[in-house]
Amino acid sequence: MMKTIFSGIQPSGTLTLGNYLGAMKHFVELQEENSCYFCIVDQHAITVPQDRLQLRKNIRSLAALYLAVGIDPHKSTLFIQSEVPAHAQLGWMMQCVSYIGELERMTQFKDKSAGKEGVSSSLLTYPPLMAADILLYKTDIVPVGEDQKQHLELTRNLAERFNSKYNDIFTIPEVKIPRVGARIMSLNDPSKKMSKSNPNQKSFISMLDDEKQILKKIKSAVTDSENEVRFDKENKPGVANLLSIYSLCTGEAIESLEEKYAGKGYGEFKEDVAHAVINSLKPIQERYFELIESEELDRILDQGAEKANRDAKKMLAKAERAMGLGRKKR
Ligand code: TYM
Repeated sequence: MMKTIFSGIQPSGTLTLGNYLGAMKHFVELQEENSCYFCIVDQHAITVPQDRLQLRKNIRSLAALYLAVGIDPHKSTLFIQSEVPAHAQLGWMMQCVSYIGELERMTQFKDKSAGKEGVSSSLLTYPPLMAADILLYKTDIVPVGEDQKQHLELTRNLAERFNSKYNDIFTIPEVKIPRVGARIMSLNDPSKKMSKSNPNQKSFISMLDDEKQILKKIKSAVTDSENEVRFDKENKPGVANLLSIYSLCTGEAIESLEEKYAGKGYGEFKEDVAHAVINSLKPIQERYFELIESEELDRILDQGAEKANRDAKKMLAKAERAMGLGRKKR
């Protein structure tokens, strides 16, 4: 049956292989049989300081990447969060049903605020905005990587709380996390997730890295001293991470890759992983550079915003009515 899908990505730097394998790649498959909304969540990005010119660039770059991986504007609605004001409006209302305590318990908030001074209040109220993103579109399924699971659980709680307190208007969304690749790890420290905000360039592969950079980064990826290609997340997290990446880039099962490299060392294995990554990113990069300066890109984003505004306004009106905001429509 046709379902409604929503997901968002922050334009806070060039996307990594983790964003691609954990999220974006699955979006493309989902759009075939569902009604999909994909969002560039620029209002989430400003919860930490951003350079204005760089942010503008990143927004456009992310839009081009969505299309370059295969998001088809005829099938999916692609838009920028700040161009659909209902997100911020419902976000405020969701803050009003959120408790400070539950927001303080979010691991992402704890990680991003620990030991820092001048933590913005929006870093705390980020999840109610995320809930609004999702709830505006009667979303059934939210495809995300593992790190967003807790925010999705909170979204469900907030939706249920709103429904029982005011009126039963929100669809309770389900989270969809990929079986392989839900948490692509950092290349130089496989105990941490691969992240675009890591200052160490060697820790991640950007979706726009060239062949040389990819080869170099994969070759220097941290493994172990065993020299045996085997999937063991606990004892061999570095190798397990490379196996996941390899499997996702080629479609080959992890077990068959283990067989293929039985008795072979890490040198050859890493070389092949690098080429698998290069081959899957290359067509995306080519398409990206065609799109980035094009008018087509603006046209698609205009149409996306128009469609999203139309749909989001309806749910916003329902939520305002449920809470008693404004005046009764005559
Ligand atoms: P963001 O921008 O950090 O990441 C975008 C998507 O990429 C996934 N991801 C990963 N998957 C596997 N391995 C990794 N190392 C990795 N790093 C990131 C994330 O899980 C995510 O799916 N709060 C969200 C953005 C958001 C959103 C939403 C998502 C805002 N509103 C509504 C879904 C629905 C975020 O910061 O994602």
